[in-house]
Parts: sequence; structure tokens; C-alpha cells
Amino acid sequence: MIRIRKARMSDVEKMQDLINHHAKAGRMLARSLLELYENLRDFYVASEGGKLLGTAALHTSWEDLAEVKSVSVAEGRQGSGLGRKLVEHCLAEAAALGVGRVFALTYVPGFFEKLGFTRIERSELPHRVWAECLRCPEFPDCGEIAMMRALPRKRRSRRLRKAGKPAKNSRRG
Ligand SMILES: CC(C)(COP(=O)(O)OP(=O)(O)OC[C@H]1O[C@@H](n2cnc3c(N)ncnc32)[C@H](O)[C@@H]1OP(=O)(O)O)[C@@H](O)C(=O)NCCC(=O)NCCS
Repeated sequence: MIRIRKARMSDVEKMQDLINHHAKAGRMLARSLLELYENLRDFYVASEGGKLLGTAALHTSWEDLAEVKSVSVAEGRQGSGLGRKLVEHCLAEAAALGVGRVFALTYVPGFFEKLGFTRIERSELPHRVWAECLRCPEFPDCGEIAMMRALPRKRRSRRLRKAGKPAKNSRRG
């Protein structure tokens, strides 16, 4: 049975093999072991028994903004909905965190369009999110396409709205 679950330490080497297999073919950015260990909590994996079939990560990057990254599905297991499920887990987590917009930088815009993302100009993204691109050998001519999807806002309870109280996630401190 295939399960989508949060990544664990013991997945990291297989995650790197899968991601870097696609990276070598120029389909996505390679990830170092250090990056994967440091950002392990961002990652979901698709697993079947001891096999790792896919990865995707949600990385919060700025006010109201998060990135879906490192979406990969093993050769031979593509086209059966795993990529969609992995991204949907990331989107559900983003919504739970109160993130309003999720973006991706990708060479496969058609896949993200199927998931409700639309193309945007790269210049619409805050400069802060380009920090990772500065380390990329392809920068600044990588050809990746920026895609964005808005998430539904969580509604405040009727009781709080009536009382005129600020929404919980607008608290500071
Ligand atoms: C891109 C990738 C993650 C898609 O995963 P997948 O499991 O094959 O995709 P799914 O089966 O979940 O497809 C979901 C939908 O997207 C469509 N889709 C999948 N790959 C697509 C592509 N390359 N171009 C256009 N549409 C695509 C599917 O037809 C499907 O549409 P449907 O819902 O109308 O049937 C996978 O092919 C992959 O790992 N590719 C190599 C690495 C890569 O390019 N990653 C993206 C980095 S941002």
C-alpha cells in the first residue's frame, strides 16, 4: 500500500537519490544531504513498504507565502496520481498554517496547472525567495516558470466576528 507521510531521518538518503536522479536530467534542483537534513520537517514522502516513490516539500518563505518544492516521483510510478497527492498534502498543511498563497518554480507548468496553480511573472515574488536561486549554477537564466495558487482563507467564528475581536492568526508577539 502506498502511503503519503511526513519524511523521517531514515528516508533522507533515498530522498536525495530520487531528487538528484531527476536533477541530473535537468528536471529540478539538486539537494545536498545537508539541505535535506536541515529541512526534513518540510518534506512529505510517498512510500510503499521500504521503497521511496516520491517527495514534495512545503517551505514557508514570507508573510502569507510558502513554496512547494522538490516534487519528484520515481520513474515508472509517474502518471498515477502520486505527484498530485504529494502536492495536495503540502497545500493542506499550508492552509492549516494560515498561509494564503503557495508558489512553485518549475519546468513542468502543466502539472501545476492541473493542481490549480496559474502562471505569474517571477518579478511578482518577493526578492527574499530568490536567496536559493543565487546558489544555482543556472541563475539567472534557468527558465523555471513561476506558478501561484491562492488558498481559501480560514473564516473566523461567528462569535469572534460579532464581538469584533481580531482573528487568532492576526495576533502579534
Ligand atoms: C512532474 C511529476 C512530479 C508529476 O507527478 P505524477 O505522479 O507523474 O503526476 P500525477 O499523476 O499526479 O498527475 C496529476 C495531473 O498532472 C498531469 N501531469 C503530470 N505530469 C505532467 C507534465 N509533465 N505536464 C503536464 N501535465 C502533467 C497529469 O496528466 C494529471 O492530470 P489529470 O489529473 O488531468 O489526470 C513527475 O512526473 C516527476 O517526478 N517528474 C520529474 C521531476 C519533476 O519534473 N518535478 C517537478 C519539479 S517542480
